[in-house]
Amino acid sequence: MTTNDVVRIAAVSDLHYSKTSQGALLPLFAEITNSADVLVVAGDLTDYGLAEEAKLLAKDLTSALKIPAVGVLGNHDYEAGEEKEIARILQDAGVRMLDGDTCEVHGVGFAGVRGFCGGFGRGALGAWGEGVIKAFVHEAISEALKLESALARLKTEHRIAIVHYAPIRETVEGEPLEIYPFLGSSRLEEPLTRYEVSAVFHGHAHKGTLEGTTAKGIPVYNVSLPLLREERPGQPTFRVLELRHGVGAAQREPDRIAERRRAAGRRLDDRFAQTGSD
Ligand SMILES: [Fe+2]
Ligand SMILES: [Fe+2]
Repeated sequence: MTTNDVVRIAAVSDLHYSKTSQGALLPLFAEITNSADVLVVAGDLTDYGLAEEAKLLAKDLTSALKIPAVGVLGNHDYEAGEEKEIARILQDAGVRMLDGDTCEVHGVGFAGVRGFCGGFGRGALGAWGEGVIKAFVHEAISEALKLESALARLKTEHRIAIVHYAPIRETVEGEPLEIYPFLGSSRLEEPLTRYEVSAVFHGHAHKGTLEGTTAKGIPVYNVSLPLLREERPGQPTFRVLELRHGVGAAQREPDRIAERRRAAGRRLDDRFAQTGSD
């Protein structure tokens, strides 16, 4: 239940359910049920994109998750060409699957797409030259347009965007530089700014960075399960974001992120100072 007009959003991605995963995340789903009002799952729900894997996940979600859930598919969910079946199985298990769609839970609006890759900023691949390159870039543009039109339909005070691929470079940092262009696309960033989303959740970059901001200060969270496990040992392996109705989260959250960054910078400075004195 929500309390005092606060909605707690739990988010995690890259569950990568395989044929042997039955029961693996039951404790996680039970903990999320006790910690949040709604769950966001940001893709790569299955490992090889098999409907059989999705059925195992659906069974665990049905038995342990007792709050509403909203999600998108990831690239792994497309591997076997069974993505429509996977989405249907999860939808039947109570997860509202978004692909250019929207939904509203506890007064918060959600818009979701898988997104696509192609790189960031000045390094983003352009639609030029061979047909296959144009088709590749077109997919990224098409996903960004789907996100934009979904966000345009949301009239809620808070809008949350869910994507699988990263919309900014900052939250993939930590991955090998050579694969950045395959981890996301900054074409996804523009709709987030235009519609002033309160926060963005994504996954895909298993070795990325937990949080960042868009150029306009919108908080972006990489909620990849392997990353959360690695970066926050002993802590819950999901992110919880609290949204308060009547207060714009977009004004609050970047300040908190900036403060954490300043503190991290100070720690780094201290370390360099100590190293220098050795
Ligand atoms: Fe993944
Ligand atoms: Fe992925």
